[in-house]
Amino acid sequence: MTLEQPLTIAIDGPAASGKSTIGLLLAERIGYIFLDTGSMYRTATLAALRSGVPIHDENAVVTLSEQIHIDIGSATGYDDERMYTVWLDGDDVTWDIRLPAVEQNVSQVSSYWGVREQMVRLQREMGQRGRIVMVGRDIGTVVLPDAPLKLYITASAEERARRRWLEKQERGDDRSTYDAILADIKRRDAIDSGREHSPLRPADDAIIIDTTEKSPEQLLQQILSLAAFQTVSAE
Ligand code: CDP
Repeated sequence: MTLEQPLTIAIDGPAASGKSTIGLLLAERIGYIFLDTGSMYRTATLAALRSGVPIHDENAVVTLSEQIHIDIGSATGYDDERMYTVWLDGDDVTWDIRLPAVEQNVSQVSSYWGVREQMVRLQREMGQRGRIVMVGRDIGTVVLPDAPLKLYITASAEERARRRWLEKQERGDDRSTYDAILADIKRRDAIDSGREHSPLRPADDAIIIDTTEKSPEQLLQQILSLAAFQTVSAE
């Protein structure tokens, strides 16, 4: 028996739409690598904040992003809540990249062409190896335009804020109120959709799924059938 399935799956969508949750579930179910590209932009942002580079200084941020080393690997062996582990120059920053200061600045950093150029190069290298579920804002449009399966996952801003708030509460992080999270999500959506380089938008051939009233398991079933993971007979 062999399995016929898309080798690369691109998932895009606005902030906190549940694309990372579903991307990881899907990747685990079908035995693919999972890459959450947002974590890379968040890590570049954290690096800039840590080194005191002014976020509005595009040249300085781009230069710094050329100097840092980002690694993303398995969640195994750490706390139970993480989906994966992210290292910045060898330092485990998995939780620091979720800090409000990063969230406030990440859309600015990721609007810089020089930053995107580097991240996209790394993402394409990983994409070429195949068997990958890649999640972000521009995966179907820019990073992997030839991906055979492209999904655009969305939900109302209020529902997305509710999910992000719950996610934070579950990890004992009560630094942000629901209202602050909702405002941040709306602000990031506006910057991500309005920026000049690789704005957030569905690829022409993406399947758009509204998850406002869907559980992750329902969504997973829908995606598995969309992907037509058929079993074909082998010799
Ligand atoms: O998890 P959440 O949806 O809140 O955000 P994320 O996927 O971690 O992405 C954080 C930010 O990185 C976004 O608001 C975008 O500004 C940027 N990003 C991007 O520009 N391109 C990507 N492929 C992924 C993220």
